[in-house]
Amino acid sequence: MSYIDVSGLSFGYTKDSLLFNNIALSFNLGEQVAIIGQNGSGKTTFVKLLNGMLKPQRGRIKISGESIIDKSIADIATKVGFVFQNPNQMLFTNTVEKELALSLLRLKIGKKEQDSRINEMLSFFNLEQYRTTHPRNLSRGEKQKLALATVLIREPQAIILDEPFSGIDFKQRENLTNYIRILSEEGKLIILITHNIDSILENCSRVIALDEGKITYDLPINDFLMDETNLSKIGLLPTNYLKMLYKLRDIGLPREIYRKKDLIEYFKQNLEL
Ligand SMILES: Nc1ncnc2c1ncn2[C@@H]1O[C@H](COP(=O)(O)OP(=O)(O)OP(=O)(O)O)[C@@H](O)[C@H]1O
Ligand SMILES: [Mg+2]
Repeated sequence: MSYIDVSGLSFGYTKDSLLFNNIALSFNLGEQVAIIGQNGSGKTTFVKLLNGMLKPQRGRIKISGESIIDKSIADIATKVGFVFQNPNQMLFTNTVEKELALSLLRLKIGKKEQDSRINEMLSFFNLEQYRTTHPRNLSRGEKQKLALATVLIREPQAIILDEPFSGIDFKQRENLTNYIRILSEEGKLIILITHNIDSILENCSRVIALDEGKITYDLPINDFLMDETNLSKIGLLPTNYLKMLYKLRDIGLPREIYRKKDLIEYFKQNLEL
């Protein structure tokens, strides 16, 4: 059974024009899925349908075997964690610590377990010194980390991140990539919406492309990389890293090597560095 199962999904912001028409998609635990597409292709709308912020006109969405039709956003959030494009939309209280405690409110866990989870998150995200700081006084990257912590603290099986790489610096991006890897290794389902194609190579096992609400393709990462035109098909441009990868493939780089770490290892061995 898939952890998230969407079938016959239709949705439009207005009655006479449907953005999604009869979409079917399923997602399993342990997968790292990228959803890509131009601005306005429907990525965020799809996520809002999954978390109950929007209701489909037709179709069914099941999470962990149960329809979400009559579930509240807060109920759904215990099964799937959502990290939105703008962390400001996710922060409500006047201290970092309270923000984390608020996230745990709906979980039936004791005070001791609550404190231990809060401490664990503060230390994991290096936010201990901001325990009593107002979230609005955090930097953009720190807000992003706090927003992610408020989701992870509930220990959901699936996490959906909408543009988590925007507005954060290189170092934070590396950190976030590492967190995503740790979560993947724990067997969680990760759905990553991003325009950052290089981060998809590092983080994802499957790529879904949306174009004006239609699924253009849904491919394992290896198959996605096999066809150089896959990005241009949906109006996106290859990154310099990807261009370099294709050039290296032309001169014999094995297909299974596409992550930066593996590429460096390959060069070390083959160039006897
Ligand atoms: N609240 C809304 N009311 C009406 N139309 C909307 C609303 N939100 C989004 N849309 C429209 O729905 C379409 C899909 O938007 P959506 O935000 O899902 O795209 P996206 O793929 O997330 O884009 P981006 O890459 O810019 O984040 C767009 O045409 C957008 O203008
Ligand atoms: Mg969006």
